[in-house]
Amino acid sequence: MNETLNTIFEHRSIRKFKDEKISKEVLNLILKAACSGSTLGNMQLFSIIVTEDKEMMRKAAPAHFNQPIATNAPLMLTFCADTHRFNKYCEYRGAETTAYCNLQSYQWAVTDAIIAAQNACVAAESLGLGFCWLGTITYNCNDFIKLYQLPENVMPVACISFGYPDENPPLTDKLPVEAMVHHEVYEDYNEVKINKLYKEKEEHPNTIALLKENNLENLAKIFTERRYVKADNEHFAEVLAEALRQQKFMK
Ligand SMILES: Cc1cc2nc3c(=O)[nH]c(=O)nc-3n(C[C@H](O)[C@H](O)[C@H](O)COP(=O)(O)O)c2cc1C
Repeated sequence: MNETLNTIFEHRSIRKFKDEKISKEVLNLILKAACSGSTLGNMQLFSIIVTEDKEMMRKAAPAHFNQPIATNAPLMLTFCADTHRFNKYCEYRGAETTAYCNLQSYQWAVTDAIIAAQNACVAAESLGLGFCWLGTITYNCNDFIKLYQLPENVMPVACISFGYPDENPPLTDKLPVEAMVHHEVYEDYNEVKINKLYKEKEEHPNTIALLKENNLENLAKIFTERRYVKADNEHFAEVLAEALRQQKFMK
């Protein structure tokens, strides 16, 4: 096995970090990796907000629902879908300035930002760091837009805390690869197939403990009744749609 694959296969989220700073040299390598990936038309439709100031982390914490990882890491990177910079470039060159103010361009920019984020993650792990994503960046996007002073056509889409690991959690249970892979066409799932694909996860001791703790009958209900509840998802979808309108990605 080569080192790149080993780094990828050994991934696990880290939520406890040593009180150890990340050097400028290491940070620059992570940022360079983030900026070296594929991007639509090579337009690099993303921006990265680097947060090292603990005061800025504390200000962002409530919008991250005060998750410990919002403040306990030495570094946080917020990846934004960004067509603003390219629009400015067009403006200063006398080109069309609103070609990238729409949902299609937003989708391109999200893709670019996520590729950059994942490249940063792989680079960080290869350098001995750990990290954890904060999905809360997309919940309260308006708060982050204000805090980071994001102009129109910039949207936060990924936020990741990085640091030297102070824990060594086991690998998480993942679905077998065939659950996600389809050959030539989409092969739909029936009950027999779903039972087979989720069997290991459902029988995992963590799942059994979780069901007991929550007094629920299966893992699916842990998601729909505890973790990501329909009413919340619909509320935050509205917040997101409003932010996309405000940031001029949608009418
Ligand atoms: C988009 C995204 C959002 C996430 N948000 C959070 C979060 O807010 N808090 C957290 O503790 N972990 C978060 N995670 C980490 C996942 O829980 C974790 O990746 C998943 O359980 C698989 O575990 P692993 O990363 O150790 O393989 C997030 C991951 C992703 C990709």
